Amino acid sequence: MPLVPPYIESLQPYEAGRTIESVRREFGLTHIAKLASNENPLGASPKATEAMRRELEGLNFYPDGGLRLRETLAREYDVKVENVIAGSGSEGIMSNIIRAFLCDEDEVLTTEAAFIGFQVLAKSRGVKYRTVPYLNWGYDLSALGEAINADTKIIYLANPNNPTGTIFTRSQFDNFYKHVPERVLIILDEAYFEYAKDNPRYPDSMHYRYDNVITLRTFSKIYGLAGARIGYGFAHEELIRNLLKVKLPFEPSTPAEAAGIGALGDKEFLHRSLEVNARGIKYLTAGLEDLGLSVVPSQANFVMVPLPSEQDAMRVFNELMAQGVIVRPLKRFGLPFCLRISIGLDEDNKFCIEAMRNSYAASLGTSHVT
Ligand SMILES: Cc1ncc(COP(=O)(O)O)c(C=O)c1O
Repeated sequence: MPLVPPYIESLQPYEAGRTIESVRREFGLTHIAKLASNENPLGASPKATEAMRRELEGLNFYPDGGLRLRETLAREYDVKVENVIAGSGSEGIMSNIIRAFLCDEDEVLTTEAAFIGFQVLAKSRGVKYRTVPYLNWGYDLSALGEAINADTKIIYLANPNNPTGTIFTRSQFDNFYKHVPERVLIILDEAYFEYAKDNPRYPDSMHYRYDNVITLRTFSKIYGLAGARIGYGFAHEELIRNLLKVKLPFEPSTPAEAAGIGALGDKEFLHRSLEVNARGIKYLTAGLEDLGLSVVPSQANFVMVPLPSEQDAMRVFNELMAQGVIVRPLKRFGLPFCLRISIGLDEDNKFCIEAMRNSYAASLGTSHVT
């Protein structure tokens, strides 16, 4: 009997993107733009950090398991506290979903090259992991509906999707939902919900609740709290009750919980972040397209750029890094010929286009691009 199960042995530990400091040191650079992890370039919500600081005096006490945040969210969204869960990032809750609901013979179904965090969590449970290909870089919901079988237990959908940035609409979801038996749990990951919510084509799942759908959201993105680890979810009370059984009793931490509550009241920061992002998406998309690159239209805080080959993607990634622009190669997601570029401040985006012009147009010639 091996010490490590084969499905764990075959996984790779998560590699965080390069830090600003390590790139600065390696290349002797002064100016770095970190556009690799879909973080908020404006920093954290000031109301969140203020609330977090206020909690520091009480660190000798154990947290309340997220109750205060759950109550705040229940009031804000007009649901019962029994319908809300809080955790260490939305990934923390995803991990609890996997632990609570999957049995050895169950299967997980999602799109190819799904959000890497979900891939790792599901594969680490050792169950069968099935995917269907993208359709125009979005979820092929018809194919997913047809792929459901008697063993399917969890379907994972991210809307907007990471890494492609695409969304599906309410009617696409409703048509798909007709094919989903009640025994199948749908994880609807809305980590980038705030960036898409004003798009009339985007369906906010809080407006159409189903008993077998868990909506997950996070403070890591628009509220700039990725380092605090705080996320939340909404679902039928029976699902939440079972998640609470497996959740670590003292997550989220007290400062993270306070930061989440503070962030919810920071509408000014939310609006400023949306403005910077909308301007950045427009600028980056146009700038990259001007260089002859194709850019997948994005509803989130990043854009995905498919290149002609994996070699091209890695060359551009390395050349950008040598100039101080850190982007994300998507080989580990399952798209080795693609790069993902997070939206930065105006000056970061400008710097990125300049670096891309140097590395891509110069080395390949734009005629090479399809
Ligand atoms: C689709 C998606 N879901 C979840 C997460 C993780 O969010 P959190 O920081 O709340 O764990 C990310 C982060 O990149 C993401 O892209």
